[in-house]
Amino acid sequence: MSDKKKRIFLSPPHMGGKELEYIKGAFESNYIAPLGPQVDAFEQEFSEITGIPYALALSSGTAAMHLAMRLVGIEPGDEIFASTLTFIGSVTPALYMGAAPVFIDSDRKSWNMDISLLADELKLSDKRGKLPKAVIPTDIFGQCADYDEIQRICDRYEIPVIVDAAESLGATYKGRGAGSSGKAGVFSFNGNKIITTSGGGMLASDNPEFIEEARYLSQQARDPVPYYQHSRIGYNYRMSNILAAVGRGQLGVLNDRVKRKREIFNDYYNVLNDIPGIEFMPEAGYGTASRWLSVILITPDVFGMNADGLCQLLEEENIESRPVWKPMHMQPVFKNNDSGNSIESRREKYQMRAVGGSVAEDLFKRGLCLPSGTQMATADMERIISTILRAVE
Ligand SMILES: Cc1ncc(COP(=O)(O)O)c(C=O)c1O
Repeated sequence: MSDKKKRIFLSPPHMGGKELEYIKGAFESNYIAPLGPQVDAFEQEFSEITGIPYALALSSGTAAMHLAMRLVGIEPGDEIFASTLTFIGSVTPALYMGAAPVFIDSDRKSWNMDISLLADELKLSDKRGKLPKAVIPTDIFGQCADYDEIQRICDRYEIPVIVDAAESLGATYKGRGAGSSGKAGVFSFNGNKIITTSGGGMLASDNPEFIEEARYLSQQARDPVPYYQHSRIGYNYRMSNILAAVGRGQLGVLNDRVKRKREIFNDYYNVLNDIPGIEFMPEAGYGTASRWLSVILITPDVFGMNADGLCQLLEEENIESRPVWKPMHMQPVFKNNDSGNSIESRREKYQMRAVGGSVAEDLFKRGLCLPSGTQMATADMERIISTILRAVE
């Protein structure tokens, strides 16, 4: 590896310019707290930009998912249906609550939850007399799941849908914003996301009671009396006023970030799409993907190298790329997957069920997420592309 070459990261933070001004406002008001005017403004501006009328700023996307699952009444022994191609934060709250995930495979046209598998599995579950308490589709890599179809299928059984839109802020589905479906949408502002607060999340819904109840639970479920009284158990999940200030600056540049992410995708696509053995993540016809990450699939026999090999070659050039998420049904933490066999992993095993899985397995095996940072210069793109082209040779 040449030490002179600067590192190109996968998707680093990119500040918009106004963040420090808002942080200064937070200091001046002395709201150095998990509430305050910046949090209120961040929630309101988030609603205006996404079109989802009620929003609650939280400490992480996982916290937002936990609250949503709590509000739909998940209990020990319940099942939830989730996408197998996702990040684990999508489902860990279900495991905190003693529920068992059922992981549904992806389809080829969007890489999101396969709706025919969902429909079949719900039919079977209904016959067995045990329907899931929630269906949680993930919008993978900045592309919305097929919200209307999922909703239509779930409505038959009155099952609530919680959209994991952690990766899709800025994408659209039939003209609506990402996460604007089901009971609620869950968003993440983790450092690698399209906009970031360094760490943080949002729960958003068109139902004011849902958000108000989540707000109450996120503040240790403190009863509305002058002294500290608790009739229920809650969480300490609110977002800090300082981080909300960062979020406000970031929201102001969301549209620019989506535009740049899509340009980056197109730049890769225009040069690499004709190379035998490389395919790009498709864009489903029902919306516009944010292209949070530009993802390719490699067919090693044709390309001459597998995705791991290309990842290593890029790494030698100090370029960060990442495999596609390892599907949840393949994770060693689950009991009926006997891979992780260390003493440590045997101690902590959880029950799960998989519905299909071969598509997500293939995407994991052949997929590679390419650097997609919105601050990448033309020279950085050239360095990445020339390294990939060298692999072809
Ligand atoms: C699909 C998905 N779900 C959930 C999360 C969890 O969000 P957070 O890291 O903010 O807890 C993430 C990202 O980190 C994610 O990519």
